[in-house]
Amino acid sequence: MTEIVDLLLVNAAQVVTCAGPGPKRGAALADVGAIEHGAIAVADGRIVAVGPTAELQSRFRGRVHLDVAGKIICPGFVDCHTHLVFAGDRVDEFERKLAGASYQELLAAGGGILSTMRATRAASLEELVALGQRRLHAMARLGTTTVEIKSGYGLNTDGELKILAAIERLAAAAPQDIVPTFLAAHALPPEFAGDPDGYIELVCEEMLPAAATWYHDSLFGGLGLPLFNDVFCEQGVFDYAQSRRVLEAGLNVGLRPKIHADEFVSLGGTRLAVELGAISADHLDATPPEEMTMLAASQTIAVLLPGVNFHLGSRHFAQARRWVEAGAAIALATDFNPGSAPILSLPLVMAIACRYQRLTPAEALNAVTLNAAHAIGLGDRLGSLEVGKQADLLIVDAPDYRHLAYWLGDNLVAAVFKAGKPLEV
Ligand code: NIG
Ligand code: FE
Repeated sequence: MTEIVDLLLVNAAQVVTCAGPGPKRGAALADVGAIEHGAIAVADGRIVAVGPTAELQSRFRGRVHLDVAGKIICPGFVDCHTHLVFAGDRVDEFERKLAGASYQELLAAGGGILSTMRATRAASLEELVALGQRRLHAMARLGTTTVEIKSGYGLNTDGELKILAAIERLAAAAPQDIVPTFLAAHALPPEFAGDPDGYIELVCEEMLPAAATWYHDSLFGGLGLPLFNDVFCEQGVFDYAQSRRVLEAGLNVGLRPKIHADEFVSLGGTRLAVELGAISADHLDATPPEEMTMLAASQTIAVLLPGVNFHLGSRHFAQARRWVEAGAAIALATDFNPGSAPILSLPLVMAIACRYQRLTPAEALNAVTLNAAHAIGLGDRLGSLEVGKQADLLIVDAPDYRHLAYWLGDNLVAAVFKAGKPLEV
């Protein structure tokens, strides 16, 4: 007897499942779980079967039946680290960087993150939402079906809450699932120049409690989507002790930590991530070997952001092969932001990671799907094509998954399905 389902996709050259019982490491990371001549059946937004076309055609009839005709099907991409809500741009700084100024010099001179803070403080909520919407639609066209978005360009209570409000408005209308992260400790605002501990005090005593209160009444709380708490632990920004205070204060109001660690200089941020049970530690360009070993032995996901090194014109990338060999569960993300990574495309990030960090195309694909979902606490719900999971999937115009990281600057995504529904992108 055939079962009727909402959607049946058949005749894929491959269904690339990225299936795994948990975050992928080592040999599992190198395996994308491809099913040749595959098919997938979807009902009520969830995957009910994945397998060979011949088998699924005998078991199911789809209300919508699609012959994928030699293209591949893979999970929707998960961008687990972005700073997507901001106003303005930093194109002038881009030119100054090309002429030799460094990212840290621009920040120390009151530019960088602080320049985006000024533009973002001056923007209305409606303007921020409109800007964010445009960016999310561009990401959807590129195959991204879930996006983490950080605050961090308000740097005072009202400014940070305005960004959280913009993220919530975006989540209500966006084609993607959105996960918010609170990043009040992103840079020292001018009001606290020379007094970083004073700002940290404000973050811990006022801003984090306000964010936690906002979260409980927001649509995220209702959807069971988490709010994370992040800090930029870096020389010239916040040190180990200040970062620890911020992340502990977040834990006290129920927010699990994330951390920007070891982007330029190691201050112990990776160790801190492990000590506090952070869901992820991100950047990890300058992590010392002993902290690599610590993180690899923990549940914390190592999020690598090679689009940053690429955009900054650096030849120094996080040592992805060493992270993999140490046994870490690595994810890749864009870090989309106007300063260090004006980059919306996860396939481009995969392409960079393969070329400059020597990841294999399979490792890179697992790193933007299942492992990225685990980096934002959604690994049990989405990120792979497995029975019971949300049917977030892409039809990709390629004969096998390696093409995703191979072709540069094209968009191979032919169709995007979110929870089993085709997106008009
Ligand atoms: O992840 N490193 C800190 N924050 C961002 C950059 C934000 C910006 O430059 O506006 C990052 O690289
Ligand atoms: Fe970042």
